[in-house]
Amino acid sequence: MKNRLEEIKQIAEQELDKCESLDALENLRVKFLGKKGELTAILKQMGSLSAEERPVVGQLANTVRTAIEGDIAKRTQALKAELAKKQLAAEKLDVTLPGKKQSLGRLHPLTATLNDIKEIFLGMGFEIAEGPEVETDHYCFEALNMPKHHPARDTQDTFYINDNVVLRTQTSSVQIRTMENKKPPIRIISPGRVYRSDTVDATHSPLFHQIEGLVVDKGITMGDLKGTLELLMKRIYGEDCRIRLRPHHFPYTEPSAEVDMMCFNCRGEGCPLCKNEGYIELLGAGMVHPKVLEGCGIDPEVYSGFAFGIGLERITMGRYKIDDLRLLYENDMRFLGQF
Ligand code: DAH
Repeated sequence: MKNRLEEIKQIAEQELDKCESLDALENLRVKFLGKKGELTAILKQMGSLSAEERPVVGQLANTVRTAIEGDIAKRTQALKAELAKKQLAAEKLDVTLPGKKQSLGRLHPLTATLNDIKEIFLGMGFEIAEGPEVETDHYCFEALNMPKHHPARDTQDTFYINDNVVLRTQTSSVQIRTMENKKPPIRIISPGRVYRSDTVDATHSPLFHQIEGLVVDKGITMGDLKGTLELLMKRIYGEDCRIRLRPHHFPYTEPSAEVDMMCFNCRGEGCPLCKNEGYIELLGAGMVHPKVLEGCGIDPEVYSGFAFGIGLERITMGRYKIDDLRLLYENDMRFLGQF
């Protein structure tokens, strides 16, 4: 029995040494010291021993128990220390590593430009008007003096929902909606999306943005139009920016003009960008056609007005020297991050 006790002690020492986890350690404790453990099994057999042997074996059994308990305690400590060390190593922080930068979002160049333009017009006492992008033939064409045979109505140019409903090709439709609902004095701008059946290239997109302007009051002249647009351009492109009006034709204005601005690249000197003109075409404008006023119930003998339509993309591209329209829609952060 003594031999068996010595053996148990030895085996326990060996197994404890190899033991690699706290769970396994607990299993060993149960195996050697538990109620059904090996040591208990020996003690249960003590009855068969002689009176002299019993205390000797009893003492030895106690020594073995104490030794195993001590070993278990030591091994527990060692394993816990090892575990703590591993955890520390896993959670190690290198405080010298460069941090992760939180990048701040910013406004898209189109939004930033539109916000500035709105601000400039609000400062001149304009209001902001809105109209639907899915528009009837009446507001998009008919009421703007563009009758059935007008080329802008061609399916090559216009997205039709049905014979009478289109995706608006111009924000000019909002002029009519405004004049039908409001009597002069009228001073509005109306920014928004417009659609044309164009193929995408560096200067065309089937969806783009316009900002319509409309002023109707007594005594409004072409001079007011020019002054208003000149102020806009100076605010956007700088005080030395000049504009130029060229005769043109729009069915809903008479007279009509195309407005050019001084080339932002060469500042009027002439360069490849402006094809040596010194000026770049910017927008369409004119004095609201008497027929259009009349159609909206405004007496052209009493009131006059000017209107204009600015391409937001064009003015933004000029401002930031962007040479391809597509860049504005591709959401490439390498591009957008520059502004
Ligand atoms: N609607 C025109 C276009 O899409 C721009 C325009 C020209 C608007 C003259 C106007 C205007 O209000 O009077 O090209």
